Amino acid sequence: MKNTGTFIKMKQQNEKIAMLTAYDYPSAKQAEEAGVDVILVGDSLGMVVLGYESTVKVTVDDMIHHGKAARRGAQDTFLVVDMPFGSFQGSVDRTLDNAMRIFQETGAEALKLEGADEVVEVTRLLTRTGIPVVAHLGLLPQTAGVIGGYRVQGKTADAAKKLIDDAKACEAAGACLIVLECIPYQLAREVTAAVSVPVIGIGAGSETDGQVLVYHDILKYGSHHLPKFVRSYAEAGEIMKNGLNAYVTEVKSGEFPAEEHRFTMKEDELQQLYG
Ligand code: KIV
Ligand code: NA
Repeated sequence: MKNTGTFIKMKQQNEKIAMLTAYDYPSAKQAEEAGVDVILVGDSLGMVVLGYESTVKVTVDDMIHHGKAARRGAQDTFLVVDMPFGSFQGSVDRTLDNAMRIFQETGAEALKLEGADEVVEVTRLLTRTGIPVVAHLGLLPQTAGVIGGYRVQGKTADAAKKLIDDAKACEAAGACLIVLECIPYQLAREVTAAVSVPVIGIGAGSETDGQVLVYHDILKYGSHHLPKFVRSYAEAGEIMKNGLNAYVTEVKSGEFPAEEHRFTMKEDELQQLYG
């Protein structure tokens, strides 16, 4: 399995890191078979799998449930699980309990936490405890309610400077990867050059050390709105819908099941049955 050392080497050698979300056994298995370097069990599962409006309703138990399934599907791929909204704020004891539960019960290689400032201290604490941490800066979906929605971050010089400082602080606190979401590509390039930990972008241009996208977005599976920064690589939703429609049609028409799908009782047993 690739590990944090492999990723640093990849950064140094300009080899791009491909990261993708997955939320259950089959999606994680597919991601591993496709050669994805890092699988993220993101709290985006709140929207794409659980049907919530945002990520804030996702619980620690949800993350563990999906994290365990993804782990079973991808045993040889570096697995990151998000700490959900509200699980790493408040008391240190509670944060540690939540982190330890998610880390131990899922068997993930690292946990991802949104934010800087107070979260930098949490990153330091978890890292010292032995739990590798992936930082997440830029657009932070868990707190999008406070800034008034999903917007591009770091567009002003001041905001950009703060973000570069935050990335350095996360690195100093021990973060093993940094995810940058929805920021100008020039800022993402700057951050990528400013730290030695690998930087993974989503809506952050092409000059980061790697890319991450949401499974359902790249496969067009589900009916949600796709952000500007997504490229879709397959029409999975359309293919699945056609399959489901054909099934219903054939059941209604009696075309399914056919003879090859049925089981047969021997003639002498049938005689006895009818008496
Ligand atoms: O939850 C998620 O899917 C994420 C990525 C998009 C970075 O945090
Ligand atoms: Na997330």
